[in-house]
Amino acid sequence: MTATVLITGAGSGIGLATARAVVARGAQAILWDVSRPALNAARAELGEAARTAVVDVSDAGAVASADLAGVTHLVNNAGILGQKVAWTGLDAEHLKAIFDVNVIGLMLVTQAFAQARMAHPTAAIVNMSSIAGENGGGPGFAAYGASKGAIMALTRAMARDFAPDIRVNALAPGIIDTPIQDTILTAPDARDRVAEGIPMARMGTADEVARAADWLLFDAPYVTGEIIRIAGGRR
Ligand SMILES: NC(=O)c1ccc[n+]([C@@H]2O[C@H](COP(=O)([O-])OP(=O)(O)OC[C@H]3O[C@@H](n4cnc5c(N)ncnc54)[C@H](O)[C@@H]3O)[C@@H](O)[C@H]2O)c1
Repeated sequence: MTATVLITGAGSGIGLATARAVVARGAQAILWDVSRPALNAARAELGEAARTAVVDVSDAGAVASADLAGVTHLVNNAGILGQKVAWTGLDAEHLKAIFDVNVIGLMLVTQAFAQARMAHPTAAIVNMSSIAGENGGGPGFAAYGASKGAIMALTRAMARDFAPDIRVNALAPGIIDTPIQDTILTAPDARDRVAEGIPMARMGTADEVARAADWLLFDAPYVTGEIIRIAGGRR
């Protein structure tokens, strides 16, 4: 039975790499993103196996009216880091903007998926958390860390509530070299300096996270409620 994997935030980075991985194994992919140009490029690369839609996961109306036909698996990957904000500058608006995408968006898409999905022997959800959900996030990124901690709790709740029909796991990437890092790694030698704090002595790649997502989706039939770090040994 053909699997159809909905991937949010699939126009870039880890989401796009996950789309490549699932298409390579013969699945269909539904790519959602807020960037039409990014989706067009992904569609040109992936061909007939991919269909795309501009859907902002934090927009309840857009999620409710989106086409989920045939969907069997879900990767809740869309996420934003937000600007660096010291505690003195942290306000409700900042916190809300990040939680709207990273937490509320994940919840909205999961609800839509649970309603529309077609049964599949390996039915599964993968949520993209972060080691920031455990360590609190880097200085100035407390709201992001809190949102990723919320995803860990939601993953455990979803795994319990959706068992035995749908397995639900989360990935907690460390520092992965994708465009989201451009906000932080602005200095020319920033990538080298970051590598010094990682036991594996380098940043991870989007493909390395995507391979773990693909494994959780299709090759881990007795794994649910787990949070797996993909962080090169960093905590
Ligand atoms: N790169 C890292 O170091 C790292 C580490 C831990 C966790 N993560 C998580 O991995 C996920 C993917 O991040 P990435 O590194 O590939 O970043 P990225 O910025 O390359 O990709 C994120 C994608 O999500 C899309 N997006 C943003 N807001 C959206 C919304 N409201 N609705 C739909 N799509 C939206 C963006 O347009 C972009 O294409 C995020 O949840 C991020 O928090 C990344």
